Amino acid sequence: MPGIVIVGVQWGDEGKGKATDLLGERTDWVVKFNGGNNAGHTVVIGDEKYALHLLPSGILSPGVNPVIGNGVVIDLEVLFAELDALSARGIDVSKLRVSANAHIITQYHRTLDKVTERFLGKRQIGTTGRGIGPAYADKINRVGIRVQDLFDESILRQKVEGALEQKNHLLVKVFNRRGITCDEIVEDLLSYAERLRPMVCDTGLLLNKALDAGEVVVFEGGQATMLDIDHGTYPFVTSSSATAGGAATGSGVGPGRLDRIVGIVKAYTTRVGSGPFPTELFDEQGDWLRAAGFEFGTTTGRPRRVGWYDAPITRYATRINGITDLVLTKLDILTGLEKIPVCVAYDVNGERFDEVPVNQSDFHHATPILEHYAGWSEDISSARTFEDLPQTAQDYVLALEEMSGTRISVIGVGPGRDQVIVRHDLI
Ligand code: GDP
Ligand code: IMO
Ligand code: MG
Repeated sequence: MPGIVIVGVQWGDEGKGKATDLLGERTDWVVKFNGGNNAGHTVVIGDEKYALHLLPSGILSPGVNPVIGNGVVIDLEVLFAELDALSARGIDVSKLRVSANAHIITQYHRTLDKVTERFLGKRQIGTTGRGIGPAYADKINRVGIRVQDLFDESILRQKVEGALEQKNHLLVKVFNRRGITCDEIVEDLLSYAERLRPMVCDTGLLLNKALDAGEVVVFEGGQATMLDIDHGTYPFVTSSSATAGGAATGSGVGPGRLDRIVGIVKAYTTRVGSGPFPTELFDEQGDWLRAAGFEFGTTTGRPRRVGWYDAPITRYATRINGITDLVLTKLDILTGLEKIPVCVAYDVNGERFDEVPVNQSDFHHATPILEHYAGWSEDISSARTFEDLPQTAQDYVLALEEMSGTRISVIGVGPGRDQVIVRHDLI
């Protein structure tokens, strides 16, 4: 069972980093296949806490070979700052490999991200401001800069000039900002080239060879299903393929090699940024849930929007990704609630929808139809088997399993590496 994909089920921050870390000991390779430093993964190992953005979480496990795949967009300043910070804490980062085909985020992408958001006013997406959308837009427009371009100055210069031509018109005439010169961009990018060079290779070839040799490869998704460019709540999404299909295109491995698709889902729901969110709480219960779950962004520090578990979303994600196993995280956070509401369907202007409506405005107007499950008050953070959980917690998990149509293989009961209940091994 060598190819294992990890994807987020909801709107991100489900605990994907912890899940990847959990597999670390039995993993040979971890490849990040989408997104960039918009991701924020917190991993807790003993007393140490790590926040990863651009690097795959697998880098924290000594035996793992970390890879940044072709589907990723790379901010080089962030890449080296993260590598240096981890090295300073004693993590071996020397094995990192970077795809020659990955795209580069430049200063003009960051600037455009911020000014476009400001321009959108009330309609803004609430992006992380890291230049992710504009970098992917350039990739699709075929004016992107790729990692391999850094090693040929004249090609780099031509490409940057081409990319800047329209952007400077936009920046100066539409957004009233100063123009950006080709020289400043080229100089900045070249300043990283020599340090980057030894890491760069055909990562698709590397990963296929590893799979041929029977090694275990974990494909680590950033963001999540509902933020996916195709399947998410468009336009309130990120600009990459965060679903399981993206694991193949974003790493250069055929879809048939993805043996297991693991969906990470929180025992309630959170979202950062704008867009529909049917179970969102605006009252003091929401404040309680946010505080109890420490729901503040790892990347931007923004308070996350919070709400109850949404079963149709998990069913949707199961279909879109072909999820074989679910990891249910943060069950411990619900401790102390007398009743736990779960959204089982939606009401849209008097009509019942059992599945996520295909029409975006229906989803915007959806209100949750809730069922209530009995809560528990016992501390569950040291439970290590399913039977250690109070009966009501077991019943809650079994109800979610039944509604999602997929087995819940792992349950998170705390942020620590060992704070899990494994019902079915993922590898
Ligand atoms: P990611 O972006 O999906 O990797 O998730 P984040 O790291 O942004 O957010 C998940 C947060 O929940 C992190 O702070 C984790 O340490 C924490 N976490 C993960 N699993 C559990 C769990 O089962 N219980 C608790 N209490 N915290 C968890
Ligand atoms: P992880 O990997 C939660 C959200 C942003 C915004 C939208 C678009 O930690 O789960 P972008 O900067 O990507 O163009 O922003 O997507 N977003 C995330 N929300 N977790 C993330 O990553 C996210 N990455 C992007 O808040 O609404
Ligand atoms: Mg996160």
